Amino acid sequence: MIGVIGGSGLYDLDLLDGVETVRVKTPYGPPSSDITLGTLHGRRVAFLARHGAGHRLTPTEVPSRANVYALRRLGVRHVLAVSAVGSLVDGYAPGRLVVPDQIVDRTKGVRPATFFGDGLVAHVSMAAPFCPRLRADLLAAAKSSGHDDAIDGATYCCIEGPQFSTRAESHLYRSWGLHIIGMTAVPEAALAREAQLCYAGLALVTDYDCWHESEEPVTADMVAQTMRSNVIAAREVLADVVTRIDDAADCGCRHAVDGAVLTATPEARR
Ligand code: ADE
Repeated sequence: MIGVIGGSGLYDLDLLDGVETVRVKTPYGPPSSDITLGTLHGRRVAFLARHGAGHRLTPTEVPSRANVYALRRLGVRHVLAVSAVGSLVDGYAPGRLVVPDQIVDRTKGVRPATFFGDGLVAHVSMAAPFCPRLRADLLAAAKSSGHDDAIDGATYCCIEGPQFSTRAESHLYRSWGLHIIGMTAVPEAALAREAQLCYAGLALVTDYDCWHESEEPVTADMVAQTMRSNVIAAREVLADVVTRIDDAADCGCRHAVDGAVLTATPEARR
C-alpha cells in the first residue's frame, strides 16, 4: 500500500477508484483526517489530509505520530508527502516542483517527534532523511509527466509557524544555503523513519518567502492561490509515481531500527 499525505491545497486525491473512507484509532489519538483508501493504476493507495478536513490544524497541531502510525497500521510501506513551500533561491520560482534531500529543523521542539521513550531508547539515522529510491521514483515520474524541470535535491528548512518568517530570518536561512522553506517535514520524516517506512517529499513552490526584493512577501492567500495550479501538477506526478514503486523491494528504510535500540533486552540483562 502507498500512502499519500496531502498538504495545503491537496485535501483529496480525486484520482482513486473504488474509494472507501476509514477512521483509524491510534495510541496517539486520531489522525488529522479519516483516511481514503482506493486504487490507482492497480495500486492500493491511502490518502490522508495533513491539516484535516477543511484545513483546521496548524502545523504545530498536526498529529504526526497518529498519522504515521495510522498509515503503517493500514499496511503502508511508502509515503509520498506533498507540501507547499516557499523558495529561498532565485531560480526556484513559484510553480516549480522540488524533491528535497535534506532537512534543517527550525521548529521549536514542541512537536512530539519520536515513537520511542517510556523505557525504550532508539536512535535511528537521519543522515539521509528521505528515501533515495522513492526520491528517484518521484523524479522519474515528474520527468515522464511533463515536469522535467523538477529540482533534484534541496534542503528543506522547517519552521514552526504558523507565522511566516521575518525578513532577517529569511536572509539568515539563505545565508545558510537552505533552498526551500515549509512547516511540516518535521517530525513527519523522522517518524516515518522510525516506523521503517520509505518517505519522500514532493514540495510545490508557492512563493519567494520574504527575502526577494522584487517580489511581494508571502501571504496565506498567495500560497492558496498558487497551490490551486500546483495541485494539478502534483496529481499528475502522483498518478505516475505509483506505477514505479516496488512494494516488495528490500529498502534500507525497512531496517532503520536494526541496531538503533540501546535498551537492553530481558535476555541481555540476565
Ligand atoms: N509554505 C509555503 N510557503 C511558505 C513559506 N514562505 N514559509 C513557510 N512555509 C511555507
